[in-house]
Amino acid sequence: MNRARQAFRAARRVLVITGAGISAESGIPTFRGEGGLWKGFDATQLATPQAFDGDPELVWEWYRWRKQICNEASPNPGHRAVAEMEHREGDFLLLTQNVDGLHPRAGSKKLVEIHGCIDQARCTRCASVFGVPASEGMPRCSDCGALARPHILWFGESYWAGTLDRGIAFARQADFCLVVGTSGMVWAPSAVALEAKQQGAFLVDVNPEQSQISSYADAWLAGPAGAILPELLAEVPE
Ligand code: OAD
Repeated sequence: MNRARQAFRAARRVLVITGAGISAESGIPTFRGEGGLWKGFDATQLATPQAFDGDPELVWEWYRWRKQICNEASPNPGHRAVAEMEHREGDFLLLTQNVDGLHPRAGSKKLVEIHGCIDQARCTRCASVFGVPASEGMPRCSDCGALARPHILWFGESYWAGTLDRGIAFARQADFCLVVGTSGMVWAPSAVALEAKQQGAFLVDVNPEQSQISSYADAWLAGPAGAILPELLAEVPE
């Protein structure tokens, strides 16, 4: 913790990468933990284009259930600490894999939601993006009337143009990279973190369990984000 604090204090460009674990203490199930099941379906099977093609109604039902959990949840001290880091650091970027919207609600502004946002839908025909309507059922595009899908990056889909490039460009200049609450099973965010490390950033992993990142990290802070992140910020002068 002391080495991580010192590195953060000395840093000029800070990159933070978060995953589902940072929202676990807000009551949002992680993908690969116990909460990854819904009505017997595995989250990693439902979050796919194949699942949507086969049964769009089921996939929408699952997303509406998740959206309600996300909307009813509140940001926790981990999200607030990340927002606080942004206010302390001039040069800052947050890449989140989470679609729950808790980072922006905690006050984060310099962020990229690389997997999309649970509150948005996208037309399957004209690709226009709009807010998910409150009414039940499958949303239709407000422009062309075609079926809409959740505006979420699903398994097997390519990242949207520009999102990863921005992260990689920032990672190459970062001197501190903090990874929080991700198993590291999705290659792209892990690759951005390792790029930062390779270019000289001090890499910190915050996770109660060993992740794909922990063994590469300069410091693995083993514990829940809601406790560890405020501790990381403590004693750092305003
Ligand atoms: P995972 O569910 O794979 O991993 C969650 C991680 O959070 C695990 O390593 C846990 O040990 C850790 N964790 C649990 N509680 C924690 C806490 N209180 N504080 C810190 N860490 C904690 O979630 P992700 O790595 O985010 O993508 O999964 C990445 C992506 O997989 C998701 O964004 C989703 C899924 O495919 C898409 O939908 C495209």
